[in-house]
Amino acid sequence: MEILFATSNKHKFSEASAILSTKIKHFPFQYLEIRSDNLEEIARDAVAVAYAKCKTPVFVEDTGLFITALKGFPGTYSAWTFAKIGVEGILKLMKDESNKEAKFETCIAYHDGTDIHVFHDVCEGRLADQKQGNSGFGYDPIFIPEGHTQTFAENITLKNKLSHRYKTLLKFSRFLKTRI
Ligand code: IMP
Repeated sequence: MEILFATSNKHKFSEASAILSTKIKHFPFQYLEIRSDNLEEIARDAVAVAYAKCKTPVFVEDTGLFITALKGFPGTYSAWTFAKIGVEGILKLMKDESNKEAKFETCIAYHDGTDIHVFHDVCEGRLADQKQGNSGFGYDPIFIPEGHTQTFAENITLKNKLSHRYKTLLKFSRFLKTRI
């Protein structure tokens, strides 16, 4: 069975291909994300739009960075925030905060042609005081997973073993194995 991953983010696609044992195909997909504080609501809407276009089993993935000291900001607005103020802007906002706790949360929504199935997971961690490392993408240079000292951008191998995306894809992968 062919499964499409609808995303405009090539980094997400390569992380997913490395993690999933099922073969997936890239469906380059640009769509206007709905506004919501809820990742699942956004992912469900996106996968319905993607399925209407491709009429093939397809999944989407939505991720947010939730910073405790900023009451969960940027959360579901992480892409918009990244485009507007980037990592440097987040570092400025966090400069005088002593609580650096943050987490990434991922939601995958899969449309199998009949139903939509959703999978969630998180990666707890904290923010670095400055950018560290050159690998990965997005907020990777400032995110240090719990129990570690390097950012995702400094240790991409580690990222792919414990990230929010890895853990969510694992749940999705186990689900697919029961179906195929
Ligand atoms: P979206 O899931 O494509 O809406 O991504 C939200 C924002 O978070 C974008 O700016 C991404 O670059 C960023 N982002 C998503 N996943 C990750 C990740 O695994 N590491 C770092 N930043 C991420």
